[in-house]
Amino acid sequence: MRNLDSLIQEGRVHRSIYVDPGIFSDEMTRVFGGTWVFLGHESEIPAPNDFKTVKLGLRPMILTRDHSGEVHALFNRCSHRAATVCQHERGNQKRFTCSYHGWTFGNDGSLVGVPSPGAYGAGFRKEDRGLSRPCRLDRYRGFIFVTLNAEAPDLLEFLGPATYYLDQFIDRAPDGEIDLGQPYRMAYRANWKLIWDNGADGYHPQTSHRSIVTMTHQRYGNQRSLDNFGDADPDSGPMYNQELGYGHALLDQRPGMGPSLWGRARPMPGREAYESVLREKYGGAAEELLEKAPGPGLNLTIFPNVHLIGNQVVVVQPLAVDLTEIAWYPTKLRGAPDTINALRMRIAEDFPNFGETDDFENFERQQLGLSIPEIEWVDTSRGLELDRAWYDERGAKTTPVTDDGPLRSYHREWKRLMALEVELCVR
Ligand code: FES
Ligand code: FE2
Repeated sequence: MRNLDSLIQEGRVHRSIYVDPGIFSDEMTRVFGGTWVFLGHESEIPAPNDFKTVKLGLRPMILTRDHSGEVHALFNRCSHRAATVCQHERGNQKRFTCSYHGWTFGNDGSLVGVPSPGAYGAGFRKEDRGLSRPCRLDRYRGFIFVTLNAEAPDLLEFLGPATYYLDQFIDRAPDGEIDLGQPYRMAYRANWKLIWDNGADGYHPQTSHRSIVTMTHQRYGNQRSLDNFGDADPDSGPMYNQELGYGHALLDQRPGMGPSLWGRARPMPGREAYESVLREKYGGAAEELLEKAPGPGLNLTIFPNVHLIGNQVVVVQPLAVDLTEIAWYPTKLRGAPDTINALRMRIAEDFPNFGETDDFENFERQQLGLSIPEIEWVDTSRGLELDRAWYDERGAKTTPVTDDGPLRSYHREWKRLMALEVELCVR
């Protein structure tokens, strides 16, 4: 058993949590087995017999909706000799036939066909040979989570105050539901936790994203989004970050953003055309609709694999100790005009593309620096010695936006999960 206390200390963490393949392998089992993990959104499999493939840690999974509409999270592993039974990213089918010996499974996981079954004898029961699944599945407003930990808290307790911000993200939809579109994917050659270190880090934008901030100033003047991360000392500004429990965190940009989100959105292809269509059709009500196009100014991170940034849902998928895939899902507001949902996608072409590349470049530089074995420690101490935290009405510990508090809190959660002594359960 490794000494986790020596790796995660208050104010510093050991480099091995980012570079040790043995720790990575344990994380994929323990962290991505011991807590609730986001697998997908109901809107990705809206119709009967829809499915998508996904991973739980590194475990291949199929998320399905059966003919009656029920959702199943199934391990993509033939119950015969383990071959994956589905090779497609998404689709619509009632059955999955294994390409090796032809066992066939229904999209509810049941084994429905075995070629030449006679040789198995009387003890062979198809009912016992379905596709396995995690012991728990639950959902919150369309977000589907699973865990292999029978003793994990209920999903609502796990999400805790994060539901307050998730609700704010979803409630912008006139019909109170969001739909996820197809993602675009990016990868960086560094450890998956580096994007978690960065998730509520309000210390880096003024340096990391300097070029996009400067470009914004030069082209569009003040009062466009990201200017709140400009020249002023972010510690003296009103933005804050929060620890939300179980490793979740919030970076709230809203206090620095002024009254109109749309007013701060930078120009984008088709902006004038979209805007005039809306004004013509909705008159005075267009103003309120346009406010729904940009993201709500929240960066919400739900450990260990979801971020809500801008108006997108971002999924973190570790692939190797030094390779991480990030999928950016655009979100549509159900009940909003198509024009607004088109604008939401155009807006997403801006900062994520031209900002996240800055972050990924830094993560890769970190991974390179972390390769030096003799220099062991990574600093996580910002704000630690100053007592500048306060608590909001939901009890969330809140600090100025540059504080490392959220980072330290997810490291504590990571340590807790890595030390869990529970038997992970499938059924
Ligand atoms: Fe799937 Fe043999 S491994 S049918
Ligand atoms: Fe960033």
